[in-house]
Amino acid sequence: MTKQKLELTWIGKDKRPKLEPRILLEDPTKSYHAAARVSEADLFDNRLIFGDNLLALKALEQEFAGKVKCVFIDPPYNTGSAFTHYDDGLEHSIWLGLMRDRLEIIRRLMSDDGSLWITIDDNEAHYLKVLCDEVLGRGCFVTAFIWKKVDSPNDNKVPITPDHEYVLCFTKTSGARPFRQKSDDSILEAYRQPDRESDRPYRDRLLKKNGKNSLRSDRPSMFFPLTAPDGTVVLPMHDDGREARWALGKAAVERLVAERSLVWKLRASGWVPYTREFAPESPSRPYPTIWNDLDTTRQTKAHQKALFGDNVFDTPKPEDMLKRILDMSTNPGDLVLDSFAGSGTTGAVAHKMGRRWIMVELGEHCHTHIIPRLKKVIDGQDRGGVTEATGWKGGGGFRYQRLAPSLIVHDRWGNPVINPAYNAAQLAEALAKLEGFTYAPSETRWWQHGHSSERDLLYVTTQNLSAEQLQALSHEVGADQTLLVCCAAFRGVSAAQAAERWPNLTLKKIPKMVLARCEWGHDDYSLNVANLPMAQAVSAKSAQDLDGARAAGDLGSVRAVGGLVSATGPAAGRSTAAPSSAQASLFGGDDA
Ligand SMILES: C[S@@+](CC[C@H](N)C(=O)[O-])C[C@H]1O[C@@H](n2cnc3c(N)ncnc32)[C@H](O)[C@@H]1O
Repeated sequence: MTKQKLELTWIGKDKRPKLEPRILLEDPTKSYHAAARVSEADLFDNRLIFGDNLLALKALEQEFAGKVKCVFIDPPYNTGSAFTHYDDGLEHSIWLGLMRDRLEIIRRLMSDDGSLWITIDDNEAHYLKVLCDEVLGRGCFVTAFIWKKVDSPNDNKVPITPDHEYVLCFTKTSGARPFRQKSDDSILEAYRQPDRESDRPYRDRLLKKNGKNSLRSDRPSMFFPLTAPDGTVVLPMHDDGREARWALGKAAVERLVAERSLVWKLRASGWVPYTREFAPESPSRPYPTIWNDLDTTRQTKAHQKALFGDNVFDTPKPEDMLKRILDMSTNPGDLVLDSFAGSGTTGAVAHKMGRRWIMVELGEHCHTHIIPRLKKVIDGQDRGGVTEATGWKGGGGFRYQRLAPSLIVHDRWGNPVINPAYNAAQLAEALAKLEGFTYAPSETRWWQHGHSSERDLLYVTTQNLSAEQLQALSHEVGADQTLLVCCAAFRGVSAAQAAERWPNLTLKKIPKMVLARCEWGHDDYSLNVANLPMAQAVSAKSAQDLDGARAAGDLGSVRAVGGLVSATGPAAGRSTAAPSSAQASLFGGDDA
């Protein structure tokens, strides 16, 4: 009998996109850095990526797998009304599929000691928790923090108004809790006495257990005699004459004696033992799961107003929430990723805290909000948010990148060809990525564009190579290295002859070598419905198609439903317009 597994299922769950690992192209006119260094710790190698986050995450995978310490995402919450005419779980299925595809890559990007934090509300929180259990593992779930997002009563015409959102927290490694506690100097108030020798403050606590479970019968092994300084034998006894017990076992008490932390005091009743506890050097306590001490949406919008004037971003998260998360989960220099960047809160806070960051944003607010905001942070001109708490003065920078277009396009006869927009260097970089090589053109060997190991090299050319050229290449590569040659064609020799004649060369023809690898020309995996007609436009035929697909559990076969392009279907690759409304799109705008 096959073992049954507990899982969440949805329409189209078994469809996974075969993503093209794109290269990223920098636009130096949009990159930015401070005019001068502010400190030795200034960080410049941060990245702002403009484009769909599924392709961007895929593009980052080769370089950053296993390297991201903290991922924070604040995805669209799937509360929009684009699908209200299909109240049958279809929109939840699509949302879950879009999230699953992203979470799987995010997991691969996380370091073993890394963590993932996701803000979400009631609408999808519980489905998302189960989905994350499936992608990361149930043992990786830490908790669902609760953020109190309002500080004033809401609409009083409804019976219940939502005051909170969740922050789901998962670790990459099952059972791991790689989190720092909350520093709290008030703990020191309990340590009043300074030690005569070391001057360290301490407190003494009774060794006898009081209160619940404090009887000998509760823990018989913790009832044993101790010898006081005058040689008398002391046993734990309650004032009412009942036999009590010590708070520690014999071995622990012996350790205290050896460390000279068992202290005797002479009281009216006789000698009484105490344990001496010195004040912790960094006093801290665990974070609670309810976060009602952070900025609310209203306060966050006030900071946005200072940053953007009237053009405030609709659904920002407070900077102090991000500071808390990064305080708990990262150290200076660690890498932080946010693939739903919005107005850029995560990058702004990571920057102020000396963490390296990568942000991905698909919307135009990448240019209208994130870039201006980060410029202000770098120039030390953002006085709001966590600037004061972090002591931020400015400095560092970021590189702006966008996704390269698809490597393969179709010529006018419908044949797949290398995209003419690629120059030679970009083509070499793209093929290095596709073949799993590191793109690193050699300064001395014109034919070496990359390596996968010290002896395994890559050469990319659009030439048709002759047998003489291949002979010369083989000679240069030598017997103790191998070279993968990606060329348009080769002549004067068959593939079998070439393999026999030059065992240190592997010849592959582009674009043929990559055609079956992935989906080409698919630019937007975001299911952007911003400018599409609503469901009234569904024809009887489309509705039938949809019903049929539902019955077959296969949305991949529905090309377009009432103008909604299925993310999992073959038509999903058609680009749609950039989001124009913050509310109108799923994974293409901000309906959180
Ligand atoms: C709720 S907002 C994030 C707000 C952010 N935490 C802040 O404090 O400003 C979600 C963002 O995800 C972006 N987004 C949605 N789908 C995306 C996709 N497929 N690729 C990249 N960004 C996407 C939206 O454009 C929106 O800006």
